[in-house]
Formats: sequence, C-alpha cells, structure tokens
Amino acid sequence: MKLISTLLFFLLLISLTYSSATPTRSRKRDRVHEPCKRLVFYFHDIIYNGHNSKNATSAIVGTPAWGNRTILANQNHFGDLVVFDDPITLDNNLHSRPIGRAQGFYIYDKKEIFTAWLGFSFVFNSTQHKGSINFAGADPLMNKTRDISVIGGTGDFFMTRGVATLSTDSFEGEVYFRLRAEINLYECW
Ligand SMILES: *[C@@H]1O[C@H](CO)[C@@H](O)[C@H](O)[C@H]1NC(C)=O
Ligand SMILES: *[C@@H]1O[C@H](CO)[C@@H](O)[C@H](O)[C@H]1NC(C)=O
Ligand SMILES: *[C@@H]1O[C@H](CO)[C@@H](O)[C@H](O)[C@H]1NC(C)=O
Ligand SMILES: *[C@@H]1O[C@H](CO)[C@@H](O)[C@H](O)[C@H]1NC(C)=O
Repeated sequence: MKLISTLLFFLLLISLTYSSATPTRSRKRDRVHEPCKRLVFYFHDIIYNGHNSKNATSAIVGTPAWGNRTILANQNHFGDLVVFDDPITLDNNLHSRPIGRAQGFYIYDKKEIFTAWLGFSFVFNSTQHKGSINFAGADPLMNKTRDISVIGGTGDFFMTRGVATLSTDSFEGEVYFRLRAEINLYECW
C-alpha cells in the first residue's frame, strides 16, 4: 500500500513537472499581462478638399446617396468609406522621414455621433522595421483614447497580436488629422 501511494505521488510529480515545463506562447502571455513589445508611431491623414488631389493621402470612395465624394457627408459622415495611404513617422512631425505607410480604410458607421470602423496595415520599409502589422476595430473617435486590435503581422512582426491605443494628436478641421498609435504586442515570435 505504501509502495502504491509512493508511486502515485511520483507519477503526479512527473505529470506536474511535465505540464509546467511545456513552454507555450499563451502561458507566457497569461502569466504576465505585460506586452512583449511596445511601439509608438504617428500617422498623418491629409483629407481631400476638392483642390488638393496631389497632396491628399485619403480619398472618399463610397458615400451614401445624399453625399458626394468631394466632401464628407452630413449626419456625422455616416456611410462614407475612405481609403488612405498615410505616412508613418516616429515623431509627430508630418515632415519627418516616413518609416512606412498606414494603408487601409475607415467607414463612418453611426449617424448620431462621430465614430468609425478601421481596417488597415502598417507597412514598414525602413532600416528600423520590415514587414507589416495589421489592425482592425471600432474607433469611437471622439474618445480621447480608443483601443483597436492588432490581429496579425508579417516580417519583423510575424504572427503578432496585441492592442493598439489610438489618440487624436492633432485635428485641423476637415483638412488634416494625426493619430498617435501606442502598440502593445502580447504575442511576439
Ligand atoms: C499638404 O497638406 C498639409 C496638411 O494640411 C499641409 O501642411 C501642406 O502645406 C500641404 N502641402 C501642399 C503642397 O499643399
Ligand atoms: C458635394 O456636397 C457639398 C455639400 O452638399 C456641396 O457643397 C458640393 O458642391 C458638392 N460637390 C459636388 C462636386 O457635387
Ligand atoms: C523599400 O525600400 C527600398 C529602399 O529604399 C526600395 O528599393 C524598395 O522598392 C522599397 N519597397 C517597397 C515595397 O516600397
Ligand atoms: C468612449 O467614451 C465613452 C464616454 O466616455 C465611454 O462610455 C465608452 O466606453 C468609450 N468607448 C470606448 C470604446 O472606449
């Protein structure tokens, strides 16, 4: 009887050792709610105003029947779909050397308030970063900060996931806005 319980004890010990020694990504993530990488970038959106097609970095490509593609529709731009190709910089200066492009779209998706849905990528091509980070999520843009999901990545950001906190760093009417993105990655390979 003593032998059996001793054996059982050792079996239990072995199985415990085994499970805790199995390294998995999720374990690392669960144990510490600390990001494995933290990055801050700015991106700059120059809105089309009817005369700046050379300078604009975004274009209204879809609009409700009561709007047009020159200016954003009334009722908080509800129904407008905007495609963008914005420079990404390391500081908040539009004229700093871009280290990549933020490319994707936003859709204004509520009549009552300003709010949008974002789907885009950071496409890097610089000595600092190569590859891309993909983002998706709701952007209640009147809030000081908004969290959107980092749903994946390639290159330096292979298979990454995390959360990006966006804040509007500057807003000049319907001409220009700058977003600050603080990216916290919780899965790094
Ligand atoms: C392009 O747009 C930016 C932001 O509004 C502005 O600062 C800049 O002067 C514009 N450049 C040209 C050539 O219009
Ligand atoms: C677009 O709509 C705005 C606001 O209704 C109007 O002022 C502007 O003339 C329109 N532009 C075109 C090209 O239809
Ligand atoms: C990335 O940058 C290099 C060097 O400036 C350039 O030759 C290459 O065409 C760029 N690639 C893309 C996809 O922009
Ligand atoms: C935006 O702000 C409102 C009011 O402060 C808050 O109730 C809401 O949860 C916020 N939304 C997000 C997605 O942070």
